[in-house]
Amino acid sequence: MPTRKPFVGGNWKMNLNRAEARALAQSVASALANGPAVEAAVFPPFPYLSDVGEVLGKVPGNAVKLGAQDFYHQPNGAFTGEVSLAMLKDLGVQVVLVGHSERRHVIGECDVLINTKVRAALDAGLEVILCVGEKLEQRELGQTDAINAAQMVYGLAGVKPEQMSRVTIAYEPVWAIGTGKNATPADAQSAHRRLRETLIHGLFGQAVGEAVRIQYGGSVKAANAKELFTQPDIDGGLIGGASLKAEEFAAIVKAAAK
Ligand code: 13P
Repeated sequence: MPTRKPFVGGNWKMNLNRAEARALAQSVASALANGPAVEAAVFPPFPYLSDVGEVLGKVPGNAVKLGAQDFYHQPNGAFTGEVSLAMLKDLGVQVVLVGHSERRHVIGECDVLINTKVRAALDAGLEVILCVGEKLEQRELGQTDAINAAQMVYGLAGVKPEQMSRVTIAYEPVWAIGTGKNATPADAQSAHRRLRETLIHGLFGQAVGEAVRIQYGGSVKAANAKELFTQPDIDGGLIGGASLKAEEFAAIVKAAAK
């Protein structure tokens, strides 16, 4: 079985001001400098990407990647309010989120748009975290694995096997996001295993499917990170609220070290 390097992302969502974003980036990068054998990234709001990129670049031994929470797939043109992949690359962005539940369920992005974005980001040479996850009513109806598989299969339509080394899947049950409730390690492991089986048997075969990292997201804290991350198919996490505190986030990243 291939060893997958754990990957932890800090999704800052629509939080912080400029000074706070700079200070958080500084503290996170310093805490993780030359750090554990875990990949880490932060996803600041658009207006602070440039500042955070600059701060990260100045920390000696910085190991934290710069990520963006969103983008529009068209290269340029009359798309008021949108931000292109080229603009993000210009600022040093290496990895983007696609299909986050807040974009699916609050903003209203559909699977077709999500798939278009995944392919555009990969074609632009970026790394992608594709988020999937069921709502509470879907879980209660026993649809968790079906929803996850459908969102992942739609999201990855047309993606080439050789591009999959730049794709991470994030399983984020919607009912666990920002609620303080998280899936039990066993439930999360079961959902992750089913996603991996779909990658292997439905999409890309054994070698690629075993190599893809699957993060867990939803109320991950330093206190519960280790028990989640030690599950065999959980390869790190995507962290919201707890990523806004440098010490807490650094502890979560360290908990992902195998
Ligand atoms: P919380 O960690 O705040 O539950 O958010 C998870 C999330 O949505 C990360 O993308």
